[in-house]
Amino acid sequence: MSSADLVPRPGGEIAANGPTFLMCSPELYEVNYVINPWMEGNVHAASKREAGAQWEQLHAAIARFARVELVKPQPGSPDMVFTANAGLVRHGVVALSRFLHPERQGEEPHFGKWFDDSGFAVREMPRGTPFEGEGDALFEWDGSRLWAGHGVRTLQSTHQWLMDIWGIEVISLRLVDPRFYHLDTCFCPLFGGYVMYFPKAFDAESLAKIHKRYSLDKRICVGDSDALRFACNAVNIGRVIVLNEVSGELSRRLEDLGFCVVQVALTEFLKAGGAAKCLALRLSEMDVTHAAAVSSSLPRETVPEWRRSA
Ligand code: ARG
Repeated sequence: MSSADLVPRPGGEIAANGPTFLMCSPELYEVNYVINPWMEGNVHAASKREAGAQWEQLHAAIARFARVELVKPQPGSPDMVFTANAGLVRHGVVALSRFLHPERQGEEPHFGKWFDDSGFAVREMPRGTPFEGEGDALFEWDGSRLWAGHGVRTLQSTHQWLMDIWGIEVISLRLVDPRFYHLDTCFCPLFGGYVMYFPKAFDAESLAKIHKRYSLDKRICVGDSDALRFACNAVNIGRVIVLNEVSGELSRRLEDLGFCVVQVALTEFLKAGGAAKCLALRLSEMDVTHAAAVSSSLPRETVPEWRRSA
């Protein structure tokens, strides 16, 4: 199917009406099992109260620049708070996730129902073909191509499926470090054609693909300690970047490039292997998501608060 065959449904309206993200409140969030190295040693170690407060802060930070839709948390799905793994959205269509681990497969029908009820056209891969949504698939800031991860969770063969759904160029990147098991933990295309990434998370061939598409002045290489704070796991809305607490060096670099850096402590979610970007799924089109910055209409009075340097 080509993008021309896509029939717009009401989900497309959500996408058109300004920057919009999907989040899931953390009442039922817990580290209950181990499906990535971050969860090791952290089973039942996340504070519910602290997680709730941190999520509220993140929600408030995103809600200043975007609309936030909510999906109801479901018993038995403690990772559902990581909505970026629900699927990948574009043009009112969602490519619904198929989770690799049985621990998360119970989330699939709940997310599927939310998308269907919200008017999105839902596309599904057969069972046994893992694809973990926006966790492993990120559009270039202008929507011109799709970067797709594989090697840990998502199966590379699903990349062709994504290409067929939207008729878009898909560039496959192989992940080689189990701590950076989703593409959104180590790679973040940014407004204006920048990319923030952790080179050591990729094999040589994938790095060459990244370097071919981004000139040196557009690359923001993140070092080990910021990468381990999930710096690349950032929500980008135009000139605004919302992310976990990072080093002063990195936040200054981003600010020097014209970004407003909003840092929110997310320690309780790191225990499950997630941070800002994992906790919010983009529903709006890329041009709509970044529109505020394109028209440079960011409210002036809020600038000093954004600049919370570490
Ligand atoms: N515990 C979850 C998992 O391992 C964390 C998901 C983080 N999400 C993300 N988009 N990287 O699946």
